[in-house]
Amino acid sequence: MKKHVIEAPVLENVPIADGIYRMVFHAQLLAIEAQPGQFVMVMKPDDQATFLRRPFGIADADPAAGTITIIYRLVGRGTKAFAKMKQGELLSVEGPIGHGFTLREGRQLLVGGGLGIAPLIFLAKSLPEKPLFLIGGRNEKEIFWKDLLAPLAEKIYVTTDDGSFGTKGFTTTLLPDVLEKEQPAGVVTCGPTIMMKGIAGLVKESGLPCEVSLEKRMACGIGVCLGCTFETTAGTRKKVCVDGPVFPAEEVFA
Ligand code: FES
Repeated sequence: MKKHVIEAPVLENVPIADGIYRMVFHAQLLAIEAQPGQFVMVMKPDDQATFLRRPFGIADADPAAGTITIIYRLVGRGTKAFAKMKQGELLSVEGPIGHGFTLREGRQLLVGGGLGIAPLIFLAKSLPEKPLFLIGGRNEKEIFWKDLLAPLAEKIYVTTDDGSFGTKGFTTTLLPDVLEKEQPAGVVTCGPTIMMKGIAGLVKESGLPCEVSLEKRMACGIGVCLGCTFETTAGTRKKVCVDGPVFPAEEVFA
């Protein structure tokens, strides 16, 4: 699919949780072509702190409104500069980029942690059947996602490390029970690598298809710099930016 570089006006840029922002911008072509699991490379023009594009998973694309939504965490000068952007300011956006999720038939279980939950929102909207969610966070404050997911999910299972909401423990703690009770047709996971590795290992035992979405530092986003490569379980090298970010779990975790 062809990528576009667009000067996109910001329509909304608001905090939705502690240090987490949602930005909506207008980019008609991207909104029409974006697939769940793909990402955009974003840069604030004329800002020294953000002269490199940064990758953000697409949290939503609305072809009718021509809008793309990203959700980001304030982590450095670049994202702090994004957070100051006002309605009407222009972003330089390149995308849509990458290989997205498979839109499988049957009820899917989407397992997410942290900002990895963002692309699962777009996936949930695009699947033929309402999915189940299993999300995890350190504490109740990090589980603000459940309100965003509620209209899209058949059911949401929650874990927190400290037990302040849902089941105490990790998503891997609850996954075996959820698999047995819900019998999903497949699993998709996105979040910290250690979480995805644990989830992929447990799903492998069940024989269900499982996809993972990898996050790597990306400088170019077009397969040139080789900064995002990793070795697959088959021993070949792949690039997260153009071969992924979504891969079958068995290609990534032994
Ligand atoms: Fe440069 Fe993937 S980010 S090759």
